[in-house]
Amino acid sequence: MSDASAVVEARNLPPQVKEIVFRETEILRRVRELGERISRDYARRDLMMVGILKGAAPFVCDLARRVTRPVLLDFISVTSYSPTPRRGSVRILKDLEEDVTDRHVLVVEDIVDTGLTLNYLLNLLRARSPASLQVCTLLDRPELRLVELPIRYTGFRVSQEFLIGYGLDYREEHRNLPFIATMRLELEGVD
Ligand code: PRP
Repeated sequence: MSDASAVVEARNLPPQVKEIVFRETEILRRVRELGERISRDYARRDLMMVGILKGAAPFVCDLARRVTRPVLLDFISVTSYSPTPRRGSVRILKDLEEDVTDRHVLVVEDIVDTGLTLNYLLNLLRARSPASLQVCTLLDRPELRLVELPIRYTGFRVSQEFLIGYGLDYREEHRNLPFIATMRLELEGVD
């Protein structure tokens, strides 16, 4: 990280930030590596990247810019019916605008925890007959997994601590932090 961005980070730290886990430079270095891998893997195939709103928005935009092939970029927005996700309790808020049929689709997530959201989405997209369907997630928390998923590309494996920044939120806040950090949940009255 440059001295200048270190100063900016230090000045702008909200009190909820406990510890920075991945600095901006580290995230972007990993994004570049993933972009290079994806560019090689899809060298002979047209790629459609599907970002899952809202969390994956920063990641999918940075990642798409690191892919050296034309990318068709689209977004889908989903939510859980309840704060504690249950199997099949995902609802679509905004569907894709493009057709995935016969396209090589890469679903891009910010984080996979239980896997229930992604499992629902993969089943939904599979039913629309893409030519291929793969997953790229920036963060993976396999300890929380309730359903096995095929994840082709992973940025980082993380522990169970609550994370904010680079798309990840706490009650819709902190998504715009350029880094990923653990959070002082006690400031929000959470044990
Ligand atoms: C988060 C994240 C994944 C999902 C992962 O989304 O972006 O989509 O949870 O959890 P799971 O593996 O247990 O299903 P969230 O529902 O918080 O919405 P957001 O992307 O708008 O923050």
